[in-house]
Amino acid sequence: MNDKPKFDGYAAQYDEWFMKNEHLFSSELSLFKKALGDITGKKLLSVGCGSGLFESYIDSSNIEGIEPSVDMGEIAEKRGVNVIFHGTIEEAKLPEDSYDIVYFNGSSSYMEELKPVYDKSLRALKDGGRLILLDVPKESAFGFMYLLGKALQTYDHEFLKGVMPNLPYPLPLASSGAWHSTEEKIDILKELGVKDFRFYQTLIKNPMYTNEEPEEVTEGYKSGGYVAIIAEK
Ligand SMILES: C[S@@+](CC[C@H](N)C(=O)[O-])C[C@H]1O[C@@H](n2cnc3c(N)ncnc32)[C@H](O)[C@@H]1O
Repeated sequence: MNDKPKFDGYAAQYDEWFMKNEHLFSSELSLFKKALGDITGKKLLSVGCGSGLFESYIDSSNIEGIEPSVDMGEIAEKRGVNVIFHGTIEEAKLPEDSYDIVYFNGSSSYMEELKPVYDKSLRALKDGGRLILLDVPKESAFGFMYLLGKALQTYDHEFLKGVMPNLPYPLPLASSGAWHSTEEKIDILKELGVKDFRFYQTLIKNPMYTNEEPEEVTEGYKSGGYVAIIAEK
């Protein structure tokens, strides 16, 4: 990556946004925990671990991380994630057949070309291991909102008046996303030989109501504003 990592300078704002949107965070955390399942005795790799915010709510002693943003990676280390590479997944060299779980929590949305990084991640998994992709789908209401914000370069626009959440995701982070659809990721994984999929979702309500209360996690991927794809190697 030649340009500045997208999240440098936003570590505090990122964590603060989740802390202020506590019910949204709680829903996403439930999805994260459900998707990971029981991690006892398992070796995990968090690709784009950020500040390790989600990992700070689970046992992170067996979690390694990759993170290009220096500010974010330093906080993740303080929170107990073993950051093995301060750089991008594209630049990282990963051992083969090594992890039980490799996961991308929100980080695929900042990568243009997904096939090479998913290929690398599948190779790093043991047989029977799981690649878990958690994201805001491009086709969701959140995806549309971020793409509209990106196109307009503001949320402060007549089209969005009266329909925005109180505290929307910071515009620079929404604008720098390369938002992907769930079907796009499924197709890539199928091309890479994955046959066994499971899906969970949350944030079913429209964005302006999402932070009213924590939401349930349900099976499927066609309604949620935050979706987990679980792909078995
Ligand atoms: C939305 S944040 C998610 C952070 C963390 N996983 C979490 O859930 O709080 C996306 C993260 O992906 C990282 N990222 C962006 N591009 C990346 C790349 N090419 N390789 C690895 N990580 C990347 C960013 O620096 C950022 O920390």
